[in-house]
Amino acid sequence: MGKALHPSEPFKIKMVEAIKIISRDERIEALKRAGYNPFSLRAEDVYIDLLTDSGTGAMSDNQWAGMMLGDESYAGSRNYFHLEAAIQDIFDFKHVIPVHQGRGAEQVVFPLMLKKGQYVINNYHFDTTKAHVELSGGIARNFLTEAALNTTEYHPFKGNFDLDRVESFINEVGAEKCAFIVVTITCNSAGGQPISMENIRSVKAIADKYNLKLVFDSARFAENALFIKQREKGYENASIKEIVKEMYSYAYALTMSAKKDAIVNMGGVIAIKDDEEFFNVCKGAVVPMEGFPTYGGLTGRDMEALARGLYEGIDEQYLTYRLGQVEYLGEELREIGVPIQFPTGGHAVFVDAKKLLPHIPSTQFPAQALANALYIESGVRAVEIGSFLEGRDPETGEQAHCDLELLRLTIPRRVYTQTHLDQVVEGFRKVLAYKDELKGLEFEYEPKVLRHFTAKLKPIE
Ligand code: F0G
Repeated sequence: MGKALHPSEPFKIKMVEAIKIISRDERIEALKRAGYNPFSLRAEDVYIDLLTDSGTGAMSDNQWAGMMLGDESYAGSRNYFHLEAAIQDIFDFKHVIPVHQGRGAEQVVFPLMLKKGQYVINNYHFDTTKAHVELSGGIARNFLTEAALNTTEYHPFKGNFDLDRVESFINEVGAEKCAFIVVTITCNSAGGQPISMENIRSVKAIADKYNLKLVFDSARFAENALFIKQREKGYENASIKEIVKEMYSYAYALTMSAKKDAIVNMGGVIAIKDDEEFFNVCKGAVVPMEGFPTYGGLTGRDMEALARGLYEGIDEQYLTYRLGQVEYLGEELREIGVPIQFPTGGHAVFVDAKKLLPHIPSTQFPAQALANALYIESGVRAVEIGSFLEGRDPETGEQAHCDLELLRLTIPRRVYTQTHLDQVVEGFRKVLAYKDELKGLEFEYEPKVLRHFTAKLKPIE
């Protein structure tokens, strides 16, 4: 009997990149050199790289063909107009500014929309998003639904806002102390979990009531749209484009990392629905940071690949395969007893390391210990999303509390096959055999900011 398949690849392979698997002993040495921090591994020492889905996707022949049509004019490149037309067509937004990646959009837009000491409300801030709120003098607050914290129980929309908490918070601090609301779709930190149309609509109603604007953090907007089609009543027969249009009908502006659902290796977008005055302010601000407003840090060829990638990213057949592939990995892992955030999200399987390794306290980073064991057994690189990433409270210097200790297995788009995913499952099978003996980690070197990228650790003996 064969095992359950996921919807197969709606593409065939025209070009390949060789990858090598080094021996287990070599991986043990490589990890030691990397200070037990997979971020510091050389990518060549990794067999299957599930660190991120950001900029790691495979572009299509259509995108590569577009790269040859780059118009590298400083101002008014033809490819800018293709990108503008794609955004106008898909999102119904009038004004478009390219930027080098998602955080480029954040660094331009956020300081223009908030005053020092104001709060920014979000279902859950991604780390760079939080950083740009704070760099602009704001305070980031998350209002994720409680349902997301119970990893074992099914909920179709674990990316939703807890609407009651949002509204009581606004009442408590006063609407004038709130700058704007960010809607992160899908919600990366909760496990790539979608937010429902109903929840978006309700957040919009709250925003209108208190005269606040909605900014959509749009990295994985297309995956969110397919989840709405699959899980929300009334959208069964809608096209992805229709769903995206409705989602964005509630937004004032969007920031986008195009390195995810738009399937480019580098790129981002700022778009504004119809506020021309704000568009003009953004155009002024983008020049010294990202570049002239018709290129914003991108080459003409980058913009062409991005314009084409936006359409490939909303193709329903592709999206069905994509979400199916992630679900496949999640189901296979559940089958062998690995606890995961259930159901799986759009871009990754999030393993619940707190459940898997209850003997390692959060201060000793259980998900990081798991990442290291998985690398040693199979050459798979995953990433910790837990206390190690969360860091310390800037005021007290204590380890900040983290509700979940997760290991993210992030699937690049159009890159790995089902056999690769089976190798990941095999890696877990080996780790499970000695999971109770895994040791926690302590710092050998701990940087002050964004420590998880460069910290050096060692196992606690
Ligand atoms: N917003 C979300 C929800 C993201 O997931 C990311 C990036 C960004 C903004 C920033 O975009 O990287 O293009 O500057 N997430 C990547 C990840 C890095 O691995 O999840 P960027």
